[in-house]
Amino acid sequence: MALGLVLVANVSMAKVYLDPKAPMEQRVEDALNRMTLGEKIAIIHAQSKFSSPGVARLGIPGLWCTDGPHGIRAEVKWDEWDQAGWTNDSCMAFPTLTCLAATWNPAMAHLYGISIGEEALYRGKNVLLGPGVNIYRTPLNGRNFEYMGEDPYLSSAMVVPYIRGVQQNGVAACVKHFALNDQEDGRHVVNVTLTDRALYEIYLPAFKAAVQEGKAWSIMGAYNRIWGQYACHNHRLLVDILRGEWGFDGAVISDWGGVSNTDEAIHNGLDLEYGSWTDGLTEGRSNSYDAYYMAMPYLEKILRGEVGTKELDDKVRNVLRLIFRTAMNPDKGFGSLCSDAHAEAARRIADEGIVLLKNAKANAKAASVLPIAPDKRSILVVGENAIKQMTVGGGSSSLKAKYEISPLQGIRERAARNGARVRYVRGYVGDVGGEYNGVTTGQDLRDNRTPAQLTEEAVNAAKEADIVLFIGGLNKADHQDAEGADRLQYELPYGQNELITALAKANRNMAVIILSGNAYAMPWLKEVPTLVQAWYNGSETGHALADILFGDVNPSGHLPFTIMPTLEDYSSHQYGQAAYPGIDQEVEYKEDLFVGYRYSDLYGRKKPIRYSADGRSFVINPPKHKPLFAFGHGLSYTTFELGKASLKGNRVSVHIRNTGDRVGQEVIQLYVAPRKPGVVRPVKELKAFSKVELQPGEEREETFTLEEDMFRYFDADKHAWVTDPGTYDIYIGTAADNTPVKITK
Ligand code: BGC
Repeated sequence: MALGLVLVANVSMAKVYLDPKAPMEQRVEDALNRMTLGEKIAIIHAQSKFSSPGVARLGIPGLWCTDGPHGIRAEVKWDEWDQAGWTNDSCMAFPTLTCLAATWNPAMAHLYGISIGEEALYRGKNVLLGPGVNIYRTPLNGRNFEYMGEDPYLSSAMVVPYIRGVQQNGVAACVKHFALNDQEDGRHVVNVTLTDRALYEIYLPAFKAAVQEGKAWSIMGAYNRIWGQYACHNHRLLVDILRGEWGFDGAVISDWGGVSNTDEAIHNGLDLEYGSWTDGLTEGRSNSYDAYYMAMPYLEKILRGEVGTKELDDKVRNVLRLIFRTAMNPDKGFGSLCSDAHAEAARRIADEGIVLLKNAKANAKAASVLPIAPDKRSILVVGENAIKQMTVGGGSSSLKAKYEISPLQGIRERAARNGARVRYVRGYVGDVGGEYNGVTTGQDLRDNRTPAQLTEEAVNAAKEADIVLFIGGLNKADHQDAEGADRLQYELPYGQNELITALAKANRNMAVIILSGNAYAMPWLKEVPTLVQAWYNGSETGHALADILFGDVNPSGHLPFTIMPTLEDYSSHQYGQAAYPGIDQEVEYKEDLFVGYRYSDLYGRKKPIRYSADGRSFVINPPKHKPLFAFGHGLSYTTFELGKASLKGNRVSVHIRNTGDRVGQEVIQLYVAPRKPGVVRPVKELKAFSKVELQPGEEREETFTLEEDMFRYFDADKHAWVTDPGTYDIYIGTAADNTPVKITK
């Protein structure tokens, strides 16, 4: 922009803004005072797909952003989404965030953050566009795999160490998508309405924790509207809540193309505009960045005197703070890319996140199907996901991974150590694509055989094998766990259900292994003895899966969301289209607080819960079925026994013993349940958890401290968290439907 060459007078000679030891706010004010109007306007919006300028004249560098959240995205062209074609921009692909959440281990989240932060740093990035903490409200949400599940407490506990890990590298986390971007269907237009209680109790806690405990340096506005106003310039969300109530001092970054109104952007708390005019290939290519809502249109308003510069200065302050914390951070080091340590981190996180959902015996005389015994000489692997490269695809989190070990490769390598033979047959054909923004997997997955031919081959092979491993699920193609489009069905696609049934008939010694970021229908569940939820695990997918299947690592992942038998068993699908995907762009969260296990816990009640809140009436009909697998569920190859709990003051202790013959980790979960609450409340809510490792026979006492805030609910009338006096039961267990230990407070 050829503007603002007039320098502001009275600037001190000492360049305080360049002194990293000077207090942050002094540096910010010093830099601000030196900037021209044009420089201020320039610094608050993008200059390319993923960068925004600094102040070249003052030696203040700009910002480089990158997706996020599972690895560092390939470089794209300046003004286009297409990859730039660099040869040095491959990354380590880490497991998706659903897997991270399934570790239930904050130490893994910290390791994740550190590792991905180092990769961002090495690639010269200042802002990592992640992590995502939108709540799992419907299993159809195409982006659930990028988030941390259904529970606000679990998401909060996991997001904080992730952010700390990233930011200790001098790279900002950009927590997204603030807020209520809980579906992809209509994400650019839908208007979400919900009660303040649901907002504060379910949908905001992870963002609040990210800001207050994680001290996130930036946050990304969502695409959707809330109370009729777009999230990227939503006054209540950004000004009242984020800055006012939470004291956020970082920068609010728009989602790419999420800005649509200059006045609102000026007044409602947005700091940095990115991705407007994102179709760089066609419209506005020459001057698109000047045409941004917070570029010339803003400047012209100032020059016409329609708006002052107070809001602008605040935005510039927030952006400068972000630059000082990241691009100008003298301690940030240089990072590293695709190191052995990162590979090990990716594998460890996947090892801890894979969930053993079910593990029975093929017949009365046999041992459980998993771990695969060394006497299984012939292993049959069936299914497209055993070979499909899954790091490419799914939307903005698509990666150009340096390598990706497929499940089949991992199994082959490990089986060779047992001297076992591995045969692979395709079983079904799903998605044969393998390209995203010019990054290709290089795989040719085309197969012209009919489903009948593929099934026949698989069934015949199954009859001859000692063990059958079916590896399927979803795959990040459109409508199969991908950004921009929700799933169209709860069922697994491509005839997998029929194939699984046919395989189970041919050979009972079978494990079903599903790669997905979402729950799905399991009509075959009773027919198969063993089921593993294996997510999308990035570069180390095959190694981690083999670790679990062969028992080199004892599974310890637990579900971060509830798996119900049918779509109709989810609360957001109880109200026709009004609650999902919306009618005439209006989505009403009619299930209110009753999301995930807060809903499935109502199973067995005879009557609906009826109440009014925020002037609206709610009717919560109990689900017709109980979960197939509850929130928090996950098995191990060993067994654990929880003993009695005791309460001393505000400390609850519980005994746990490893009663099996292997070292293993268990997740002890503490839920708080009000006995006779004065207001409507979920049956119980997760308020603490701990992952403990025990040797065979080892026992230990695990202690939790009960804090006042574990008992509170959000009183919308008072606009405050309040404690309902009365009796509370504390349930302790290893899943939302397995809480054998109870004490009363
Ligand atoms: C996504 C964001 C992403 C951004 C940049 C948007 O479409 O919603 O999550 O960070 O693109 O790629």
